[in-house]
Amino acid sequence: MACPENMLFLIVLFISGVLACFGQRDLITTMPDRLDVLTGSCVQIPCSFDIPHQIKYTFNSTILTSGVWIKGNPYFGERPDRVIFNSSKLVNRYQGEITGNMSQKNCTTVFFNVTTNYTNKYFFRIESQPFRATDTEKSVNIVVSDLPSSPILPVSGEVKEGTPVSLNCFAVTPCPEHPPELTWTLPTQFTTENQLQENPDQTKSVLSTVTFTPSYLHHEKNITCTAVYPVGTSNKTAEHNMMLNVSFSPKDTSASISPADPVSVGSCVSLTCSSTANPPVTNFTWFKISEGQEEPVNPKVFEIVGKTLGLIFLFSLIVFFAWRRRTSRLPSGFDMTDRSQGLVGMNSPVGTVCSNQATVSRGNQEPPLNNLDGL
Ligand SMILES: *[C@@H]1O[C@H](CO)[C@@H](O)[C@H](O)[C@H]1NC(C)=O
Ligand SMILES: *[C@@H]1O[C@H](CO)[C@@H](O)[C@H](O)[C@H]1NC(C)=O
Ligand SMILES: *[C@@H]1O[C@H](CO)[C@@H](O)[C@H](O)[C@H]1NC(C)=O
Ligand SMILES: *[C@@H]1O[C@H](CO)[C@@H](O)[C@H](O)[C@H]1NC(C)=O
Ligand SMILES: *[C@@H]1O[C@H](CO)[C@@H](O)[C@H](O)[C@H]1NC(C)=O
Ligand SMILES: *[C@@H]1O[C@H](CO)[C@@H](O)[C@H](O)[C@H]1NC(C)=O
Ligand SMILES: *[C@@H]1O[C@H](CO)[C@@H](O)[C@H](O)[C@H]1NC(C)=O
Ligand SMILES: *[C@@H]1O[C@H](CO)[C@@H](O)[C@H](O)[C@H]1NC(C)=O
Ligand SMILES: *[C@@H]1O[C@H](CO)[C@@H](O)[C@H](O)[C@H]1NC(C)=O
Ligand SMILES: *[C@@H]1O[C@H](CO)[C@@H](O)[C@H](O)[C@H]1NC(C)=O
Repeated sequence: MACPENMLFLIVLFISGVLACFGQRDLITTMPDRLDVLTGSCVQIPCSFDIPHQIKYTFNSTILTSGVWIKGNPYFGERPDRVIFNSSKLVNRYQGEITGNMSQKNCTTVFFNVTTNYTNKYFFRIESQPFRATDTEKSVNIVVSDLPSSPILPVSGEVKEGTPVSLNCFAVTPCPEHPPELTWTLPTQFTTENQLQENPDQTKSVLSTVTFTPSYLHHEKNITCTAVYPVGTSNKTAEHNMMLNVSFSPKDTSASISPADPVSVGSCVSLTCSSTANPPVTNFTWFKISEGQEEPVNPKVFEIVGKTLGLIFLFSLIVFFAWRRRTSRLPSGFDMTDRSQGLVGMNSPVGTVCSNQATVSRGNQEPPLNNLDGL
């Protein structure tokens, strides 16, 4: 009695046999999908190949194997001009060399003196005794241009003032014999480290790492990574600009009073506190000085407080002496603990500006600044 599982197994075997017959690929090459190349330079095509298990016995790696590159279309029977390189010939349409060891199934190839009409897709073929096969399913797309592509600056994490930061820059290196030279332009001192590295698709890149310590003065300043490709006796240059975004604590914090002249009781004065920070300041805290004690309202903003303290003190002095000259009693109109959302003003030179209005009231007749009498 036939067991259903055995039937299923036979069906799977049959189907895979049919697939093997029709979808057979006698040569399996591995190479990048695309290579961007510079006119006049060379191109190295990283390449390796394998032979499917069923026909492995027909390939004898100890027998000299030649490698053939075919341009545009893998079928060259009626178009022998599609064969642009044949390693068993001394003269070829393309100047090149298979630098890989074919006995180790390494078909890495270099073509020299690349011109724009090399732009096309290319197929690989091996010819041995008796094994001969072209991989018709895989090709490498070579794209030749007169100008090098810009190096890549991946987006970095947060750049903080005072904390050393390292940034990377990558430049494609289609011709590893003549790699590009990478240089940096920064608004400060820096160190760099360059190395040639291999990408997952076996192509090469030059990686340059720059290390520097940013300050708030470098915020919104440009940094540039420049790649110089040697081509023959000249150079070709490509660069990438990036604007630095340095996060920094509040700077240039200042307070001012308007009108600056003495004011009469009952009129309005405005106090303005401004500060530059990235991200912008969202919390400003005002506090008054009374009975010789400082009463910071929001302990989280000690930095702002410390810097505004001096200015507020100065302001208080001016107000105090102005009012004493008028021999009028001082109301306590500044008993406020306002918090306000800062306006995002990153493009203005002042940065975030916050302003609150306060009205001098008659209610409290106690001089709030009498602790300054001793001065
Ligand atoms: C491969 O070729 C070499 C030299 O022609 C021969 O000695 C050897 O037996 C061959 N190996 C196989 C597995 O056919
Ligand atoms: C490669 O060159 C060899 C030797 O001249 C020749 O026998 C072979 O047919 C050539 N292959 C192709 C695809 O042109
Ligand atoms: C293939 O040969 C090239 C030299 O042309 C070499 O750089 C590369 O590492 C080799 N690849 C492997 C997988 O051995
Ligand atoms: C290529 O590889 C074979 C087998 O690993 C080795 O015997 C031969 O010396 C290698 N040839 C070169 C030029 O490295
Ligand atoms: C190809 O490039 C080589 C140097 O890589 C140079 O010596 C040679 O003159 C060039 N040939 C042509 C035809 O441009
Ligand atoms: C490719 O272009 C070069 C000049 O750029 C020319 O000398 C050569 O004949 C062209 N080759 C083909 C196959 O069109
Ligand atoms: C090419 O660039 C290198 C450094 O990247 C420099 O030393 C050389 O002088 C430059 N050559 C020309 C012709 O500009
Ligand atoms: C800074 O880089 C930007 C592009 O990111 C560019 O538009 C601008 O001109 C550069 N500024 C300077 C001063 O180089
Ligand atoms: C700059 O960085 C700050 C803080 O990390 C962030 O809030 C802001 O969105 C960034 N600005 C840009 C233009 O990336
Ligand atoms: C502003 O200060 C208040 C009170 O200390 C606090 O609850 C709030 O989280 C602060 N907001 C920001 C954005 O820091």
